[in-house]
Amino acid sequence: MYQFDIAAGSKASLYRDLLSALDGLTADEPDAIANMANAAALLWEYLPDLNWAGFYRNVGGELVLGPFQGKAACIRIAFGAGVCGAAAATRTSQLVEDVHAFPGHIACDAASASELVVPILADGALLGVLDLDSPTRGRFDADDREGCEKLLALLGPRLR
Ligand code: SME
Repeated sequence: MYQFDIAAGSKASLYRDLLSALDGLTADEPDAIANMANAAALLWEYLPDLNWAGFYRNVGGELVLGPFQGKAACIRIAFGAGVCGAAAATRTSQLVEDVHAFPGHIACDAASASELVVPILADGALLGVLDLDSPTRGRFDADDREGCEKLLALLGPRLR
């Protein structure tokens, strides 16, 4: 059993604790799917107000569903389609306050109201994206984006 010391204080301290917990969980494990699975579980448990947390992998230039927590989701997403596809095509994080206002948003779970998608890069290659969904409009802010980008900067090389 794993025990994590993750404080529910400021967002900065939450992401710092998550970074250290994820570092410990993945440091000695070379299997990308195992590391994605544990990362999805940890983010799901400790980030409040989510209805989906998980990964899409870049498989031959298409996003394919990876390890996640939440409801069963769309399996394949083309680059450029929806929020995940936009993050993959531009290699830029997508912070969407209101998914209903995002052109082409793919509604996997009708409960989703806001979304944060962060591309995963390692040595210049796009490995996939991390997708976080919330039932609350405006749930994610720049601190979440920065926190998740830091997590993936560490995790990227361990997710391939
Ligand atoms: N809403 C996403 C699709 C993935 S699900 O939310 C899990 C999108 O528009 O890319």
